[in-house]
Amino acid sequence: MNKPLLDVLDHQPRIPPPIWLMRQAGRYLPEYRFVREKADDFLKLCFTPKLAAEVTLQPVRRFGFDAAILFSDILVVPHALGQPVQFTVGEGPQLDPIADRRGLQALKVELDHGVLAPVYETIAMVKAALPAHVALLGFCGAPWTVASYMIAGRGTPDQEPARLFAYGDPAGFTGLIDRLVEASASYLIRQLQAGVDAVQIFDTWAGILPGDELTRWCIEPTQRIIAQVRRHIPGARVIGFPRGVGTGLLRYVEDVPIDAVGLDWTVDLVFVRDQIQWRVPVQGNLDPLVLVAGGDALDRAIDRILEVFSEGPFIFNLGHGILPQTPLAHVERMLARVRGPRS
Ligand code: CP3
Repeated sequence: MNKPLLDVLDHQPRIPPPIWLMRQAGRYLPEYRFVREKADDFLKLCFTPKLAAEVTLQPVRRFGFDAAILFSDILVVPHALGQPVQFTVGEGPQLDPIADRRGLQALKVELDHGVLAPVYETIAMVKAALPAHVALLGFCGAPWTVASYMIAGRGTPDQEPARLFAYGDPAGFTGLIDRLVEASASYLIRQLQAGVDAVQIFDTWAGILPGDELTRWCIEPTQRIIAQVRRHIPGARVIGFPRGVGTGLLRYVEDVPIDAVGLDWTVDLVFVRDQIQWRVPVQGNLDPLVLVAGGDALDRAIDRILEVFSEGPFIFNLGHGILPQTPLAHVERMLARVRGPRS
């Protein structure tokens, strides 16, 4: 049975476009909150295959999305490199920040796949339960984004600690990026071997890098990950999401051999159609806040995206993760509008 999302990754337009949402398993869903409370610890939820598989499947069951995305987090990679991560409710992730070379040297050289074994088991469980037309996506964070959390030890508004580290000790920072390239490639290879149909590389913080640093810390490391993955798994399908890069998008899609590019909600749709979509399928890019707002603004935003992108290969998605305060009725309204006749 064919999967519409994989058709689009193979450059075949589909009408209506396949649809899934970044962070589609999450706090806006009552059934997620129920499981999350039972698991009490977020990482325990990620590393308990039965529960992780259940929350992965919840949004597909409720809304009939065209893809399921593995329930996990980009920060399980530092965790499996020996930098423990904690998630505190209301505070987001917390890690012991890496302040200097000594912090770097304390990391494991290789990813501990024993720690990540439950993730691979989750993939197998989800795979067995998914309807045949629904694609299963794996993912990792891009090295720059993951490094920025490892250095700051938490979320920050502009990743100042990582930028300072990279300018102050480029050789040390290169060592960290190299380690993350190896770790991310081997993590994605295992996910693909366990059964995901494609993987997405989240570079949430790509957009705060100046042009040369975008090349050095985002584009080149992502190229290397993809080359390694495809050495092991020829034809492996990869979606890139360099959030916030603006016109840097052009360089990203020219230089990184991806099967689709995720668009944040700020990019100009016509620029993307004319300059990007004929090279590579696009995915996105509804503003998560317009989905919270609903009403006419939501309908108009959906129509505009469909109007501009529908002639080429296109996956409907948000421009970043769905927000916890999103009303379920707005998600239903969006699905009906994307899939049904427009009014
Ligand atoms: O449904 C899915 O998309 C799959 C699961 C998924 C999560 N995180 C679950 C999660 C995915 C793909 C991610 C990616 C992720 N994690 C990114 C990249 C994409 C993005 O959103 O920018 C980043 C930067 C992280 C790091 C992270 N994880 C932060 C900053 C936070 C705290 C902020 C928040 O939303 O709470 C998390 C926690 C997290 N990851 C939650 C979920 C469902 C919420 C935790 C909870 O349920 O208590």
